[in-house]
Amino acid sequence: MKSIRLDKFLADSQLGTRSEVRQLLKKGLVSVNGEMVKKPEFKIDPASDRVCFDGKEVSSQQEVYYMLNKPAGVVSATRDNHDRTVLDLLPPGDRRPDLFPVGRLDKDTTGLLLITNDGALSHRLLSPRRHVDKTYFVRVNGRIREETVEAFRKGIDIGDEKITLPAELKPLGEDQALVTIREGRFHQIKRMFHAAGCEVTGLKRLTMGSLVLDENLPEGSFRRLTEEELFRLRQE
Ligand code: URA
Repeated sequence: MKSIRLDKFLADSQLGTRSEVRQLLKKGLVSVNGEMVKKPEFKIDPASDRVCFDGKEVSSQQEVYYMLNKPAGVVSATRDNHDRTVLDLLPPGDRRPDLFPVGRLDKDTTGLLLITNDGALSHRLLSPRRHVDKTYFVRVNGRIREETVEAFRKGIDIGDEKITLPAELKPLGEDQALVTIREGRFHQIKRMFHAAGCEVTGLKRLTMGSLVLDENLPEGSFRRLTEEELFRLRQE
């Protein structure tokens, strides 16, 4: 399956910007499986094609990291038969077949979602043993009371084998709060509030470990992680 433009592949491999890479192609410095290729739009399969620049192989193992501000209405999956997925939101030029979302947000949940092709980092961030903090802004119908805060702090029986780990609930009024959980159980926050007598009407993820949703990133948009963000995330 040939699936990615050669200029995009070379730019992702840090060989230069898209326009610098086009100049390198024009000069005949790039080959694919031993044949010189000058067309930037030439399609390659990073998994099987051998791309060389100036005689040296260009690694296809380039890892990429995007922050997405997920809108409601798209599913956190790589493909789906009914709904648009978070990957469908990437500009076509940035779509790679090896990308996936790190964990899941419900279809109606918005906010921070990391998209990458780095399986090892994803595994670490999602490992139940690591307890990476995730903070959400939540709106409920019902009243958040002192007892609710206390129940979250102690852990709640949501019908699983074990009660939830202690979670921090910081009310921002009667029906809004910041909530920080250290696990990633299915519909966890909705189920915790339900068990405490409230229904969640809005949920937005703001942080995952050290990674904080960029408030300048409009819903539905992506941006690459900065080196600093990536460095700190790798320390989790
Ligand atoms: N908890 C939920 O209930 N839903 C999410 O999307 C994330 C956490």
